[in-house]
Amino acid sequence: MSVRISASGGAAAAIIAVASAAILSTLLVSVEGNGYGSTSNFDYKEALTKSIIFLEAQRSGKLPPNSRLSWRGDSALDDGKLAHVDLAGGYYDAGDNVKYGLPMAFTITMLSWGAIFYRSQIEAAGELLHVHDAIRWGTDYFLKATSGRNRLYVQVGDPLLDHQCWVRPENMQTPRTVYKIDENEPGTEIAAETSAALAAASIVFRYVDHQYSRNLLNKAKRLFKFAKTYKGTYDGECPFYCSFSGYHDELQWAATWLYIATRNSTYRNYILEESVDATVGEFSWDLKYAGSQILLTQLHFEGDRDFDDYKKLADSFVCSILPESPYNQIQITPGGLIYLRDGANTQYVTSTAFLFSVYSDLLAQYRQQVTCDNQNFGSGPLMAFAKQQMDYLLGKNPEQRSYMVGFGKNPPTQAHHRGSSVPVLPQEQVVSCAYSFIDWFAKDAPNPNELTGAIVGGPDRNDYFEDHRSNGPMMEPTTYINTPAVGVLAKLASQAH
Ligand SMILES: *[C@@H]1O[C@H](CO)[C@@H](O)[C@H](O)[C@H]1NC(C)=O
Repeated sequence: MSVRISASGGAAAAIIAVASAAILSTLLVSVEGNGYGSTSNFDYKEALTKSIIFLEAQRSGKLPPNSRLSWRGDSALDDGKLAHVDLAGGYYDAGDNVKYGLPMAFTITMLSWGAIFYRSQIEAAGELLHVHDAIRWGTDYFLKATSGRNRLYVQVGDPLLDHQCWVRPENMQTPRTVYKIDENEPGTEIAAETSAALAAASIVFRYVDHQYSRNLLNKAKRLFKFAKTYKGTYDGECPFYCSFSGYHDELQWAATWLYIATRNSTYRNYILEESVDATVGEFSWDLKYAGSQILLTQLHFEGDRDFDDYKKLADSFVCSILPESPYNQIQITPGGLIYLRDGANTQYVTSTAFLFSVYSDLLAQYRQQVTCDNQNFGSGPLMAFAKQQMDYLLGKNPEQRSYMVGFGKNPPTQAHHRGSSVPVLPQEQVVSCAYSFIDWFAKDAPNPNELTGAIVGGPDRNDYFEDHRSNGPMMEPTTYINTPAVGVLAKLASQAH
């Protein structure tokens, strides 16, 4: 049985009050990025290209002719039929074949943010069209999922039954149960995150496909209204994607993206009246305050005095993580990797690297510094930390191996991923679920299909790692581990020449 720990086990614990941080903080020995291996730079452009290819492996639905992975085919074409709607398309979140709304939306929001902020770097690397395609694969699906008023389809596939079969999506026969939220059964986190994704994507496509962009923005506005009118936490994606942090962060995040996309005072007022002064040391599919705080700090840098206070909050995120900060609170492995919890830990590595990279660029552009007690940090230390985190993933670490499939030295070969670990079979072949675990899951051999570009869950708190498919926490990739990496890798690629 596949073990999957994607849900964050208590994000509330990551909400840190700066006042107590000062008392509690212990200075950790920081390992700067010069400890392991002789290489100090990687081929970031290659890593960027591959990180986007991974998203093609996660596509559900009818694949277009320009798909780059020969081992992937059409799958789940009848999704939605059980509810008499068309829900073909979208993304599988990780190594199984379920389509979960919350992580899928966060994936698209992050990819869109990267595509907006690092547009020129992604374009210079020749990847802008691929990134746009990847975003559109998500937003096309969200347009289908939002076809009804005050209704959002949030999941396809029964996770318990899905997890009882180790089968590639092309051959699955497990039930494609359809889940939705509406006025009677609300789901504020998912509705607001989907609104954020659509608002952010509308900015990406504004000058690329104006009509499409307008459609996305209209849906984003309606979803935000739905999310804030019918409040409630949806637990239908538990235990895999249970929101521990509540929905205030998603509402603030959605309002922030809607304000940036529209400059309409409705969203501005919502932020000023309803936002929570949370100081956090985590940014993830469950907890979005830090992302919103950095975006609002950008508006403050651009001259909006009403958002002045967000800089302190954005700073507190940095201060709680940067090893040199007197307020640092976050566990770092002896080899230098951010370590928040077991299972898909690298999601916190890439999301933090992305925020540090973006904030570093903003500090440089507006000649600003982060203040942590009596210490100031400029753009340089933030980018150095983001680079060190990415370099660890790409090979500069105690195990001297890459954590991205198909990239660098000694990369993972046994990703915990059905499509990659099961050989290509004829479409009509019926698979025995019982034998699937014996034949393919338990086979101690490299996956037959390379899951190019996937960043796996990664090493444990002591930098130890084993390349075994059965180790879900270390070996499972997810879309939201990879997408924050896209922007940072584009930035690092642009610095390399
Ligand atoms: C701003 O958004 C609100 C809510 O969607 C809408 O009623 C209003 O007309 C918008 N204002 C402008 C100036 O577009």
